[in-house]
Amino acid sequence: MKKLAIIGASGHGKVIADIAKKNGYTDIVFLDDNDDIRECGGYSVIGQSSEAGHLDADLIIGIGNADIRKRIQESVPKERLATLIHPSAVLAEDVVLGAGTVVMAGAVINSGARIGSGCIINTCSSVDHDCILGDYVHIAVGSHLCGTVVVGSQTWVGAGAIVSNNISLCPSCMIGTGAVIVKNIDIAGTYTGIPAKRIR
Ligand SMILES: CC(C)(COP(=O)(O)OP(=O)(O)OC[C@H]1O[C@@H](n2cnc3c(N)ncnc32)[C@H](O)[C@@H]1OP(=O)(O)O)[C@@H](O)C(=O)NCCC(=O)NCCS
Repeated sequence: MKKLAIIGASGHGKVIADIAKKNGYTDIVFLDDNDDIRECGGYSVIGQSSEAGHLDADLIIGIGNADIRKRIQESVPKERLATLIHPSAVLAEDVVLGAGTVVMAGAVINSGARIGSGCIINTCSSVDHDCILGDYVHIAVGSHLCGTVVVGSQTWVGAGAIVSNNISLCPSCMIGTGAVIVKNIDIAGTYTGIPAKRIR
């Protein structure tokens, strides 16, 4: 029996549970620091995130917020972290995925791409050839990185955003939904619009 504990009983966690099932996990439980949450997607919440290390299970963090995902992931045994890929995702053979990363339905990751640890490559997003993503990056639903894009750790590329080829995004940026990035971003902050500008 393959057991997985998902830390974070959220909507995102529920989607991860479905991917885990498709990856052969037959025993799926949740951990969440909110004691009031008892179940998620039909699976039981059996304790808090601090209990993860004591469970005889693989682990994955089901939390969208990069700071929290990082904090929790760094507190659990690295060798127990799962890497999950939805069967409908298309990955080139040489793609490298870090531990704790989840690739969701319909995502495409092309040749030469290297994805860090604890990343989310969300539904129907794409990461094209030779992109390099740091740890805890989130490529949100339907967003696209053209070829040879570099994304710094903990940066969130919002839903439907597009990052043009050869662009670098520094760590800890928030790219708004639908933004188009055509110039390198060197200062952490929130960027929106076409072409994207820093709003804070
Ligand atoms: C960019 C973002 C982070 C800003 O959130 P926020 O800091 O709470 O900012 P606010 O909602 O207060 O908006 C601030 C201003 O930016 C504008 N704005 C917000 N998001 C925008 C976007 N995506 N494109 C253009 N303008 C945007 C707002 O209209 C507002 O303008 P105003 O001051 O003229 O009224 C957020 O809107 C966003 O796009 N988050 C990404 C969500 C996402 O990708 N989810 C996917 C989950 S898979």
